[in-house]
Amino acid sequence: MAKKQGEYRRIDHPIPPLYDENSKILILGSFPSVKSRETAFFYGHPQNRFWSVLAGVLSQEVPVTIEEKRDFLHFNHIAVWDVIGSCDIIGSSDSSIRNVEPNDISLILDRADIRQIYCNGAKSHEYFCRYQEKRSGRSALRLPSTSPANAAFSRERLIDQWKQICGPLQTAAPGIGQVLLDWYDYNARILPWRSQPTPYHVWVSEIMLQQTRVEAVKAYYERWMEMLPDTRALAAVPDQMLMKLWEGLGYYNRARNLKKAAQIVVDKYEGDLPSDPDALRELPGIGEYTSGAIASIAFGLPVPALDGNGLRIFARLLTLEEDIRKTSCKRKIRQEIERILPRDRAGDFNQALMDLGSSVCLPNGQPLCDQCPWEAVCQARSQGRQEEYPRKQQKKKRRIDHLTVFFIETEKGIVLHKRPDRGLLSGLWELPNILGELGPDGAQDWLMDQVRPGEEEASEIALQSLGKAKHIFSHVEWRMMGYHVRMKELPERLLQEKKWVLVTAQEFKNDYAVPTAFEKYKL
Ligand code: ADE
Repeated sequence: MAKKQGEYRRIDHPIPPLYDENSKILILGSFPSVKSRETAFFYGHPQNRFWSVLAGVLSQEVPVTIEEKRDFLHFNHIAVWDVIGSCDIIGSSDSSIRNVEPNDISLILDRADIRQIYCNGAKSHEYFCRYQEKRSGRSALRLPSTSPANAAFSRERLIDQWKQICGPLQTAAPGIGQVLLDWYDYNARILPWRSQPTPYHVWVSEIMLQQTRVEAVKAYYERWMEMLPDTRALAAVPDQMLMKLWEGLGYYNRARNLKKAAQIVVDKYEGDLPSDPDALRELPGIGEYTSGAIASIAFGLPVPALDGNGLRIFARLLTLEEDIRKTSCKRKIRQEIERILPRDRAGDFNQALMDLGSSVCLPNGQPLCDQCPWEAVCQARSQGRQEEYPRKQQKKKRRIDHLTVFFIETEKGIVLHKRPDRGLLSGLWELPNILGELGPDGAQDWLMDQVRPGEEEASEIALQSLGKAKHIFSHVEWRMMGYHVRMKELPERLLQEKKWVLVTAQEFKNDYAVPTAFEKYKL
């Protein structure tokens, strides 16, 4: 016969519900134990594993004081209460409970967007179904009890079951960092900058990879490392050669910033990049992403390197409704990564996200979810809504500029023009061009208009169409019409007025970096 533990007493629930308007889940127990009633706070029995299991699920420190526990629940958007408002009970014994008066959980449901209700243990679930299910019109999921009486469940087993709360909490489940690393060990791409991830190699590759496809970068990276093998070589490179090494990669300020930063690294750090992300961020061209990539990949520091791949993956994993370009959304994702990042393999984890994003969790169109190591924990996948994420507000439309471009060949060379020091493609060499798209007659007339009477050397102009071309920059799109122009000579006056220069075909090929936008017309 069971030992009698004491007398029945009628007890009113002594703890107010804990929630706020940001609560996303509600966890219901049955009724507070004697210990919890004494301390007037939930799960006060030292052997109850509620706090330790939640901390394990959320990869956080176990809260100890009531103050810490309260903050922990608010921070993680968890509401807590019990199913029973008053009852007759002997001590803490769930099985002795009778004459139940249920709590009114609409108090919480009316004030917070509770995505899921969970019951801590079978007893609480039983009372929920009996007293609250119908009244609230909500169902609850049963989780194994954290009570010491549920000795059949180890803490690890409890965590494994309780991690389902991560879905509605929109937080990453524990252990998924290692799952991704296991995938990466078999699926990592073999890339030139990965074989020797020195700080210089990682830095240059990451700058080249900004807004540029991996395939396009490979050859540039190899050539660069042959010509400029270290920071000192980069700091001393002539500008003309720097631009030539970058020709065709676009966003040319990246190259200029690399050189400026290299000079600072030589002057201030004796040629070695610093490992501290804050110090890295002070160098020209290095922002949050690149500092994280260098610090984690080259120096092994446990920091995120969050690029578009990571944003897209986490937006799907957690079904984030915010625009991923918003700072608040990026901050949330960075926090999630910091929580799950395996401390000893941060660089691999960050690169695994990049590889997963570029080979499996693809943008625009169908991601290959059946190949994803996170398929089982991805919220978007479980709802069949992976193509709805990431959320992005419509961008402002790109401005469209129409241009007429001239490839002018004279007996003395090819005509180039240096772009202004500010704005799009600043300071780079370009083929002469004018705003507006001219047909052959218009183009011929424009050229003739540039020449004054008496400037005989320019009198014969042979014009041939090179067709249309389009080039898309981030904010502008160029729609171009090109012409090959042959003429004997150009008047010196015109060259000066237009700031045009003549270069030989050899120089044009080897020394002058002309952006890819003009590729179609570079004969
Ligand atoms: N894109 C940007 N950085 C990268 C890296 N380190 N590996 C693969 N793709 C990348």
